[in-house]
Amino acid sequence: KFVTSAVVALSLSAGAAIAACDDGEIVIKMSHVTNSDKHPKGIAASLLESRVNEEMNGKACMEVFPNSTLYNDDQVLEAMLQGDVQMAAPSLSKFEQFTKVFRIFDLPFVFKNIEAVDEFQNSDAGMAMKTSMERRGLTGLGFWHNGMKQMSANKPLIKPEDAAGLKFRVQPSDVIKAQMEAIKVSPQPMAFSEVYGALQTKVVDGQENTWSNIYGQKFFEVQDGTTETNHGVLDYMVVTSTDWWEGLPDDVRTQLGTIVEEVTAERNAAVGQVDAEARQAILDAGGKIVELNAEQRQVWVDAMKPVWEQFVGDVGQENIDAAQAINA
Ligand code: LMR
Repeated sequence: KFVTSAVVALSLSAGAAIAACDDGEIVIKMSHVTNSDKHPKGIAASLLESRVNEEMNGKACMEVFPNSTLYNDDQVLEAMLQGDVQMAAPSLSKFEQFTKVFRIFDLPFVFKNIEAVDEFQNSDAGMAMKTSMERRGLTGLGFWHNGMKQMSANKPLIKPEDAAGLKFRVQPSDVIKAQMEAIKVSPQPMAFSEVYGALQTKVVDGQENTWSNIYGQKFFEVQDGTTETNHGVLDYMVVTSTDWWEGLPDDVRTQLGTIVEEVTAERNAAVGQVDAEARQAILDAGGKIVELNAEQRQVWVDAMKPVWEQFVGDVGQENIDAAQAINA
């Protein structure tokens, strides 16, 4: 009963505050591409919105636009630099035009799980990444987790050769393209909002993504099954425009920064549960999940890991070593 009324209060307060965006309040528009419930980013963005609207009432007002309703990820960062939107949380694979430091996160099999990603991001090397785009006008406020990526296709995938010759939708990342080419898959960069249709009409045969995205976008409905490869990471950077951020009154910037930090810590700690629930929801909805034994998974590792060599110059051997030390 308490939980139900708390949820109702939360959604009412978020809705009411948007309608009540008062004159003089700083308007914070956040645009993102996923669904808003049962999704790590969606839940975090909604929590951020409700906390800002409750705790900063009179000073600031936040409105979140989920599901690519305002911008796709390939438009949102430009829109931010134009001042049309103030916050976004694109995946780390979507920052190629701004920085190459995030390429470490796209390398296949570099991090064994999301806890290792978290530890790396909280190291000095990870923290420095938040400011890596400031000369390009973007300030990172925090890393938000999603989860490990899985592979799906319109035929069963047990070994990498099963995917050879297929077309897979990818995010616009050179590392991910190289990873797909390593298993003889043709990578097709495409906006997230177009993937379901492209799978359904067989413009592409497969894709890689996390459980929450495969569930949230219903990809499993138009695929033969999903193979639990856990081969890579999908994580986000909450970003804002450096000009806008530095132009905020000090008290507003401090309070907003603290709320972002608290939401980040709270939701990152809960991400394993959201991920597991999405995996289970796929099974409950009749989706097929293929589990690999250690030997079968090793064949994927052996096929994809040589990609590291191509990008060591961008990501730094010391960062690869640091990630490996965390995994150990
Ligand atoms: C994708 O494009 O597959 C993801 O980056 C979408 C998201 O925001 O999780």
